[in-house]
Amino acid sequence: MRVLLLGSNGQLGTDILSANVRRTRPFELAALRRQDLDVSAVDQIKPTLHSHDFDVLINCTSYHKTDEVETNAGLAFTINAHAVKAMAEACRAKNAKLVHISTDYVFSGNDQRPYVETDCAGPINVYGASKLMGETLARRAHDDVYVLRVASLFGVAGASGKGGNFVETMLRVAREKGEVRVVGDIVMSPTATADVADMIFAVLDKKAEPGVYHAVNTGSATWYEFAREIIQQAGIDATVTPISSDEYPTAAKRPPHSALDSAKMASVVGPIPSWQEALNRYLVAKGYVTAESEALL
Ligand SMILES: NC(=O)c1ccc[n+]([C@@H]2O[C@H](COP(=O)([O-])OP(=O)(O)OC[C@H]3O[C@@H](n4cnc5c(N)ncnc54)[C@H](OP(=O)(O)O)[C@@H]3O)[C@@H](O)[C@H]2O)c1
Repeated sequence: MRVLLLGSNGQLGTDILSANVRRTRPFELAALRRQDLDVSAVDQIKPTLHSHDFDVLINCTSYHKTDEVETNAGLAFTINAHAVKAMAEACRAKNAKLVHISTDYVFSGNDQRPYVETDCAGPINVYGASKLMGETLARRAHDDVYVLRVASLFGVAGASGKGGNFVETMLRVAREKGEVRVVGDIVMSPTATADVADMIFAVLDKKAEPGVYHAVNTGSATWYEFAREIIQQAGIDATVTPISSDEYPTAAKRPPHSALDSAKMASVVGPIPSWQEALNRYLVAKGYVTAESEALL
């Protein structure tokens, strides 16, 4: 199978490249970066994709600076929706599959339980609305589309669009200040990009039915609980204090409870690791804890 990857230098893209190298039989994988195809130039997408041979297109590009997007809706809908439609149309013309990465922010977060794929979306910020439109346009344009909704990602490369990830931020603040104050009233699904990469390949290997899948580690946490676990696993002596989201106002509203249920994905790929286990693997991979301390957990 020939795979073409967009957004290959990002946090998830980097782990997709690594996961492919680890495969017993790696896919023939070509990677495009922004300098090869700027997806905000929507009219360039089809000609560029037509000039490549692939059976699967994996789209990890996104404009996902959630707060900045509130006042840049035009660019957000271009990159997160119209560009994705063009990708789906290019895939349809080539009879190729599209794996498109979406987000938990397509949900309102008002339901106080993990969302399943059939739940009604209802985004409450511009980013979520643009990503939902991308999902919809892609699935209307082409039958062979996998929409994988991910959430609260951490990967060794750090998000190129956000300049790092939450784990690194918590470790830095805890070491520098000995104290972190973190929002304790927003629940989500912390997820390792390494595990999302494995899920993508498993979905392709197992020829899963196209459609929407929640691709997250199992379990859920508030940002406070996630921070507490990061600092505890890293063995840093720092206090972690929960604060209310009212004390940390942001330009974009966040869904209060956007945890995702990954049972549908697990029915295809098998048991999915917990976020705590995934976090430990991340800390070991970054050299912050040793494999011996991993064994003690
Ligand atoms: N990070 C999270 O916590 C999170 C949560 C939920 C959903 N997601 C979704 O997960 C996916 C992957 O996220 P990530 O954390 O891996 O993001 P990331 O590290 O910021 O990577 C995004 C990639 O998209 C590329 N890109 C952005 N704008 C582009 C453009 N106009 N043309 C071409 N390439 C462009 C970036 O290239 P440059 O490096 O050149 O900018 C980068 O390679 C995205 O679809 C995102 O919406 C992420």
